[in-house]
Amino acid sequence: KGSRVVQEARERRERGQARIKYWELGTAAGAKEKEAEEAKRERQETEASLRRIETSNDVDDYKSSMRYGNVMSGKLSENEERQHSIAQQKKSLPIYGMKNDILRVVRENQIVVIVGETGSGKTTQLTQYLHEEGYSKRGVIGCTQPRRVAAVSVANRVAEEMQVELGKEVGYAIRFEDFTSEKTVIKYMTDGILLRESLSDPDLEKYSCIIMDEAHERSLNTDVLFGILKQLASRRSDLKIIVTSATLESEKFADFFGRVPVFRIPGRTFPVDIFHSKSVVEDYVEGAVRQVLQIHLQASLPGDILVFMTGQEDIEVTCETIAARLEKLEGAKPLLILPIYSQLASDLQARIFEPAPEGTRKVVVATNIAETSLTVDGVKYVVDSGFCKLKTYNPRIGMDALLLCPISQASASQRAGRAGRTGPGRCYRLYTEYAFSHEMLPANVPEIQRTNLGHVVLLLKSLGVSDLLHFPFMDPPPPENIVKSMLGLWYLGALDGGGRLTDLGKRMSTFPLDPPLSAMILAGERFGCADEVVTIVSMLSVPSIFVRPPGREEEADAVREKFLVPESDHLTLLHIFQRYRSSGCRAEWCNKHFLNSKGMRKASEVRSQLVDLMKEQKMELASCGLKWDIIRKAICAAYFHQAARMKGIGDYVNLRTSVQCYLHPTSALAGLGYNPEYVVYHELVYTGTKEYMHCVTAVEPQWLAELGPMFFTLKEGNTSRLEKQRQEEQDRLRMEQQHEEAQREKEREQAVT
Ligand code: CDP
Ligand code: MG
Repeated sequence: KGSRVVQEARERRERGQARIKYWELGTAAGAKEKEAEEAKRERQETEASLRRIETSNDVDDYKSSMRYGNVMSGKLSENEERQHSIAQQKKSLPIYGMKNDILRVVRENQIVVIVGETGSGKTTQLTQYLHEEGYSKRGVIGCTQPRRVAAVSVANRVAEEMQVELGKEVGYAIRFEDFTSEKTVIKYMTDGILLRESLSDPDLEKYSCIIMDEAHERSLNTDVLFGILKQLASRRSDLKIIVTSATLESEKFADFFGRVPVFRIPGRTFPVDIFHSKSVVEDYVEGAVRQVLQIHLQASLPGDILVFMTGQEDIEVTCETIAARLEKLEGAKPLLILPIYSQLASDLQARIFEPAPEGTRKVVVATNIAETSLTVDGVKYVVDSGFCKLKTYNPRIGMDALLLCPISQASASQRAGRAGRTGPGRCYRLYTEYAFSHEMLPANVPEIQRTNLGHVVLLLKSLGVSDLLHFPFMDPPPPENIVKSMLGLWYLGALDGGGRLTDLGKRMSTFPLDPPLSAMILAGERFGCADEVVTIVSMLSVPSIFVRPPGREEEADAVREKFLVPESDHLTLLHIFQRYRSSGCRAEWCNKHFLNSKGMRKASEVRSQLVDLMKEQKMELASCGLKWDIIRKAICAAYFHQAARMKGIGDYVNLRTSVQCYLHPTSALAGLGYNPEYVVYHELVYTGTKEYMHCVTAVEPQWLAELGPMFFTLKEGNTSRLEKQRQEEQDRLRMEQQHEEAQREKEREQAVT
């Protein structure tokens, strides 16, 4: 612990910067001059193509990255050659021989569970098989994915396999990005999208088949969809439902849907030798870097390396450190280092599928996205950090946080298996055998049992599911989580005391946003500043737009400082967006001001979609002009349950939980030395030592009292922590009682009718 690398990682994390970068190194190491010259040219081409990517839209991005990939591997875009190899690859997939059997089972059953090793072709082939069989004549073939990256990347791949333009016959939809058309017959989407679609179309009429892919991931939305589709199946006997899984949990799925058949695609895997660490690894980044270099330098055989890291920051540090160490090693063979995580730009994501140039080894450093969602061919070595980041409800701070957690044994086996797809492989675990067998849980805890359910509760309520405690969940969430989430919605005014959806709640549920953000939009409308608030919400819905290129950090910070609005990070975002608009939304303007132009463009797209939703609801899009105080009040209306009071400079305590939290060093409030007594914040980020408030706005105490009367009165100030807890307990009891009463009332009504 405390090694330089971890320290660096921590500093990076604290700066909270999202940088998009890729590493390509060693192409020229130890090579002759001519090769060096070529490498230089290649790099220039790369940079040129990346610049092209900067200014083009997403589909063009993908195409230019493909073009770039072809340049890289020296096979100048021979479309035919590529099609030929794709056809070959399709035939070599384990699922290929099972095609007719699968189609028969699907024909004979309404619901089928299909199990197959990752990489056997479930995600890319099943939709095409169903399409070829004619199911697409009756409606769209939908395939849900728990991860956005997977939905986009798989749609790309399938469009290519079918030789159609992406967005036409084959399309995808993820939040704020609908890439489908009238012609679309195969649609990949996140599970959240399908869930939202069921709001406006409860019978999902437009679909003939729905594949719930990656069910073993047990994402929150997939779990809710399970219940919804189970109920829908009896109403729509023509709808085919396929649930796919990479693990043995399949029996549980089959039982849940009423003992439906399980179809197994025989695996074709090779043995993987597993090596555990002899002692506890204190610093898994350092451990992984060493392991990668050791494999690279010692293994005489070719074969790519897949490293499982935790998240973006760790991945970036790992990539940079490998690159830096390799540079110092004379005569080392070239290594192509590629990161992959969900926030990475989609064109850079596509690169992990490209073969490395002749004689170059590829190392992909990934989050657990590469565990089952994405398959990188050619991997022979796996390096497993043993950790992942999980969204987990943290009762101490009263909200979800991404926590670093040890992986489960199931995940560990899955990770190891990735090395044995095309031949025997090796897996290096950066943890001891003891830790594996004694400290890891056998399987992952489903998301529904560990996270805040606010958004889902709101959705289910809007779907008319009044009694959440009896909804068919495969693994019901702990009742206290449901009650807590309902309580949260009650604070925001989305539910009434009896747990019924209010008008406000109904309107909130039309936005694909977390409840507090929907509440902010509605407060904005109420206070006459919806135009500004919707901008803020859009900016909060895209990854951080600030860029800090290495070596130019100070310059970037100086530019950023000019944008800061002293009392609020939210208003700073608004300010930046307004300046961007008045610059004509130009990419050059962004680059000059160290802002990510793609992120800004995305925010502007999100904004127009939210505005459309508002118009549909006949909401007024008024602007408050320069009276920005009123915007802060709207912000306060969304976050009054996340308020803090100053204790010292930069040092605050949460008003409800009394937990200590700090201004993030990048906050506008920290930057300009303005220290307001009361603030609200968007989220808490735990960095391993301290709880930082991320995105903070100064508020007036009377607003807190006015907007959050269930927590605050103006006399507030010396209420002890215990009293607050008692107060919260009382609120909860009241909520529960009222909920029960409503329940009894309903039962009485039913008894009468
Ligand atoms: O879903 P499952 O894990 O069973 O397999 P899949 O995702 O359908 O992958 C089948 C094959 O397609 C693998 O060999 C992948 O490497 C390949 N593939 C690809 O080359 N590019 C993608 N974007 C997705 C998959
Ligand atoms: Mg798959």
